Amino acid sequence: MHFTPDLARIQFAAFEPQNGIKPSFLDGPGGSQVPVRVVEKMGHYLSHYNSNLGGHFYSSMVTTELMTKARTYAQNLLNAESSDQIVFGPNMTSLTFSLSRAISRDWVEGDEVVVTALDHYSNVSSWQQAAEDRGAIVHQARVDEEDCGLDFDHLEQLVNEKTKLIAVTAASNTTGSLVDISKVVELAKRHNALVYVDAVHFAPHHLVDVQAWEVDFLACSAYKFFGPHLGMAYVHPKHLHTLKPYKVEPATNDGPGRFETGTQSFEALSGFIEAVEYLAQWGGKESPIRARLEQSFKQYEAHEAALCRHFLQRIEEIRGVKVYGRGLENVATRTPTFALRFDGTAPETVAKRLGEKGICVWNGHFYALGLIKQLGLLESGGVVRVGFMHYNTLEEIDDLIEQLKIIVN
Ligand SMILES: Cc1ncc(COP(=O)(O)O)c(C=O)c1O
Repeated sequence: MHFTPDLARIQFAAFEPQNGIKPSFLDGPGGSQVPVRVVEKMGHYLSHYNSNLGGHFYSSMVTTELMTKARTYAQNLLNAESSDQIVFGPNMTSLTFSLSRAISRDWVEGDEVVVTALDHYSNVSSWQQAAEDRGAIVHQARVDEEDCGLDFDHLEQLVNEKTKLIAVTAASNTTGSLVDISKVVELAKRHNALVYVDAVHFAPHHLVDVQAWEVDFLACSAYKFFGPHLGMAYVHPKHLHTLKPYKVEPATNDGPGRFETGTQSFEALSGFIEAVEYLAQWGGKESPIRARLEQSFKQYEAHEAALCRHFLQRIEEIRGVKVYGRGLENVATRTPTFALRFDGTAPETVAKRLGEKGICVWNGHFYALGLIKQLGLLESGGVVRVGFMHYNTLEEIDDLIEQLKIIVN
């Protein structure tokens, strides 16, 4: 079957009227809606097999198998070398904090780390605090204010032989700008630095390929791509056993389990498997899961590019609007996420008025603090963020524009 947004939408309960209004979810970058089939899988696991790993009874065996299957699904989603490279955790932030501890253990005073102003602060503060503990120095690469992407020239100036790691996002959760990760990895390799990629905003829109990018680490979050609250990280094979994670003594010291503290959310893992199946559903029935994902994502990308174009064309009808980020000529290097300001109307007012009409958008800085500070927008309330997913439609964009005309014109 070929993807259409309507065929996707009927798989969600959330699009039914809420509080008497048909909701329009333009808040995807904050978290996507969840298909009913994902929710059902989670309920089924909890109600039938709720258990723990490694026991000599059926529900525990089901749980152990589930964990193995979830790793294989994540391996395919990220194109990792093996399922052993996948670490699960509660969310991207927790995983990044704990991995940053293990990664920074051998840093010494005077070592350097580079973070970026484009990043969500989960991929900034973790490294700032790890560096502080080791006496290392943190540099922050600036945003290119023209297109609200990464200022690569500035990044290049900051990297040198003392650089231990570059922490960078694959896509801005605020302006939607993509970052050329291969170029960052090439720069890092020239200086023997590691690369830690935040793919949280990238993953719902494009298929991650850790082997093509040759990254050392990459983290993302299933609740941004139609799954439950669950984080996952890829660890390159060369780091899996050389890093020494902070862990509880009797917990396993083998494989990815070394980095997984405490008991995992098995219900979330079962939901995650189903979310990957949901994502892959437009790629035929017979092919392996990665091939099905590739076929499906091509269709999401085509639809999302159409959403981008339609939005960028229609937003011009709004007087006094500023779009921070890439325009019509650069749709291929952005996600359908837009940061907006309106002359004379505060971001919070716009978000509130749209919310009253059932149009869900966020306002503020979304933890992309460096970006919002550099743009000088922090004190005045940040931006309005409108973010589309493959389940959004051209009609929802038209409704949004009509409402914006009433609110701000
Ligand atoms: C780009 C980006 N990175 C990281 C995070 C943090 O992810 P989590 O909520 O899984 O910790 C978010 C959350 O909004 C995000 O948008």
